Amino acid sequence: MPASSLHLQTQNPAQRRIFLTSALPYANGPIHLGHLVEMVQTDIWARALRMHGHSVLYIGADDTHGTPIMLRAEKEGIAPNALIRRVWAEHKRNFDDFYISFDYYGSTDSETNRQLCEHIYRTLEKSGLISARAIEQAYDPERGMFLPDRFIKGACPKCNAPDQYGDACEICGSTYAPTDLVNPYSAISGATPVHRTTTHYFFRLSDPQCQAFLQRWVAQLAQPEARNKLREWLGETGASKLIDWDISRDAPYFGFEIPGAPGKYFYVWLDAPVGYYASLKALCNARGLDFDDWVKPESAAEQYHFIGKDILYFHTLFWPALLRFSGFRPPTNVFAHGFLTIDGQKMSKSRGTLITAQSYLDAGLNPEWLRYYFAAKLNGSIEDMDLNLDDFAMRVNSDLIGKYINIASRTARFLVKCFNGRVLDHAMHHPLLERLRAALPSIAMDYENRDTARAMRALMRNADAVNAYIDAEKPWAHAKAPDGAEALHEICSVALEAFRLLTLALKPVLPRLAQTVENWLAIAPLAWSDARAPLHSGQPIQPYRHLMTRIEPGRMDVLLAQNRAALNASLLS
Ligand code: MSP
Ligand code: ZN
Repeated sequence: MPASSLHLQTQNPAQRRIFLTSALPYANGPIHLGHLVEMVQTDIWARALRMHGHSVLYIGADDTHGTPIMLRAEKEGIAPNALIRRVWAEHKRNFDDFYISFDYYGSTDSETNRQLCEHIYRTLEKSGLISARAIEQAYDPERGMFLPDRFIKGACPKCNAPDQYGDACEICGSTYAPTDLVNPYSAISGATPVHRTTTHYFFRLSDPQCQAFLQRWVAQLAQPEARNKLREWLGETGASKLIDWDISRDAPYFGFEIPGAPGKYFYVWLDAPVGYYASLKALCNARGLDFDDWVKPESAAEQYHFIGKDILYFHTLFWPALLRFSGFRPPTNVFAHGFLTIDGQKMSKSRGTLITAQSYLDAGLNPEWLRYYFAAKLNGSIEDMDLNLDDFAMRVNSDLIGKYINIASRTARFLVKCFNGRVLDHAMHHPLLERLRAALPSIAMDYENRDTARAMRALMRNADAVNAYIDAEKPWAHAKAPDGAEALHEICSVALEAFRLLTLALKPVLPRLAQTVENWLAIAPLAWSDARAPLHSGQPIQPYRHLMTRIEPGRMDVLLAQNRAALNASLLS
């Protein structure tokens, strides 16, 4: 059982302070459904914890620095600052539209972040954990800049296919180093790269105290896959495999200049995670909270990072070590998820399956459908997950509409028409409802363990039971019978309270719908403790309005066509 679940106390929640993050999306491209997997997963977790009454700070930011962003701005003929400002607004709007409940959404290009990076760097320097040394790197003599590996292309050393990147051949699949490329050239200018010597700054991860710390820290990782990876990187006990981490890049570079090292900049992967803290600090300032109390080594607050499996190395190795040795607390846990595929294939621009958040919205699809689908698939593991477009429509229609919404739409009208919208109070103790209430703590626990797939299965099983109850009791028959009023009143009251309980437990996934239901039922925002605060006759419900529509056949094809058109348009620009 993951260490974090030990904290869960559904009955009597001791208030916890929880700081959590999603990985910071790069500011040079649109938000796509892969990013949304992560944001939705983190957001569901944040919302489920807030419903316990815990104090939760959910932080995000755009990751704005580095060579690709600098070059992208140049290609668009604008300053990097203008690019990242525009993209920030686009990203933020998408996240709002998908109900991602960030307490703060910042940018790594902030003054607070610069100060924190400098502080961390100076602290490491004082402890002797920074070293400078000369390295050789590929240099573009025409453009006058050092080339990151991904900007060097050439022919594959195995099969001779032209225009391959420096790490792997897309034609024959072999992997190699950029120096192995035949006739290498700069992807920026086309010039043949030369080798040049330059001084770089390193975080001395090879220091035995880093190894010793990480060897201890690895045990607290919740996911066995993550623990195994980190242990593999650490090597056998004792024999450190860790090598120093290169944290500097030479000008021209869009980022923060390293103090005391003119012309040298912090590598983007240093200032990006520090951006988590910078955004937390900005939030603390805005809310009058004590930042130090969240991040000092002995802090009682918890700190979690949700990430994709591709960036485990940065979050389980560099980041904890960076924090530990610069006077902060290391993360409580890091939760990695797998990659999203579409209809079984990697998302691809050329196939038109790199579906952007914006195309999804523009196709008129409901964001909560996607939130539900992701929730139904995410189980807390690192495995990849597939979005099958047919399955998506089927799942949403049959679960959300056919099982959940159906309970309200079959019974609420009777209650309004025949009983002035008032429930029958003694029906609130019906065994069906007691069973449903008893199931909630374990569903809350599933959320905590990030096994939302399990939570959704349990909820749909309960929805099935409620529908079976309605089928068996036949409210429509009682409505026609001369002496059916009492039975009708009871059945509809039970069904509606069941609907309230299901809404409560679905709220982390369907926050917007839950809010509509709260307004409709005229009840306060639902929290876990409201499981035992049933509807009552003193508070009549409003007439039933349709809560959610089903996905029409053909909708997903509209999405694909529209997305393809949008991708083509953006490729031309
Ligand atoms: N900027 C870095 C993260 C810095 S965190 C201090 C980065 N950005 S990213 O835009 O490439 O990815 C952001 C997050 O989205 C990462 O956690 C990444 O794993 C995730 N995903 C990107 N594509 C994805 C899928 N296809 N599927 C699931 N998650 C994916 O990495
Ligand atoms: Zn090849």
